[in-house]
Amino acid sequence: MAAIVVDHPLSRHYLSILRDAATGPERFRNATRRLAYILVMEALAHQGMDDYPLETPVAAARGYRLAKPVTAVAVLRAGLGLIDAVLDLVPDATVGYAGVEREEETALPVEYYKKFPDLSGRTVLVLEPMLATGGSLCWAVEESKAAGADDITALCVVAAPEGMARMEETHPDVRVVTAALDSRLNDRYFIVPGLGDMGDRLFGTL
Ligand code: URA
Repeated sequence: MAAIVVDHPLSRHYLSILRDAATGPERFRNATRRLAYILVMEALAHQGMDDYPLETPVAAARGYRLAKPVTAVAVLRAGLGLIDAVLDLVPDATVGYAGVEREEETALPVEYYKKFPDLSGRTVLVLEPMLATGGSLCWAVEESKAAGADDITALCVVAAPEGMARMEETHPDVRVVTAALDSRLNDRYFIVPGLGDMGDRLFGTL
């Protein structure tokens, strides 16, 4: 599995805003969106391109576009925070939704909603901001593969070693792009130091 930890001054800056317990929902959402632009740029950095001839006002030149269409699969709820950045940068991307809840005691994923477009032949970005145990991401990746995906990159804001190891073991073909690899999970399966519950902080449901 290719794991890319993005280390850019701006990603550090926005991640610091997200980590800060004093950051309220509006600033949290804005910082998430801005950090997501960096993650999307990195995730698509090695995409194949088609070229075509065009005319600038001055001369003939070559134009370029992504060779494959893009689909984002947002793992609910927190993945919603990354969608706007994908759609700003790739306006014709399609979007799937994967609703999964963590059972409090065990942290096992429980599915409650799923709506995917056909994913075959597409570049699929699975938006799972907090890669903790890896249960939700593994489930979303399995469902994406069942819908035809064979080119998958997971976009995470923060990852724990436990989740990274699980992805490596179960989906070595999936790339993971994250803004941070933190130290561990605590006994409630939260990432340490992490940023708390991403969904709650995005939507003010603390
Ligand atoms: N989900 C979150 O929102 N935060 C964590 O730390 C782990 C999982």
